[in-house]
Amino acid sequence: MYVCVCNAVTETDIKKAVKEGANCLHQLESKLGVGNNCGSCACDASACLNRAMESQMHSANPFSI
Ligand code: FES
Repeated sequence: MYVCVCNAVTETDIKKAVKEGANCLHQLESKLGVGNNCGSCACDASACLNRAMESQMHSANPFSI
């Protein structure tokens, strides 16, 4: 599903960017162009970024639930 329609950025693209080290909206913008056009995706992109970072944190910690 597209998070940023203007730049055809999907949730999968954001997850991949997080795996590659992105950890803030500014880095997503630099890497993928998220939010650099109309800006209406910023809130959804931020939520997606947070989910991806949480997911990565849990998968990196073998003791997490
Ligand atoms: S939808 Fe992301 S910049 Fe327009």
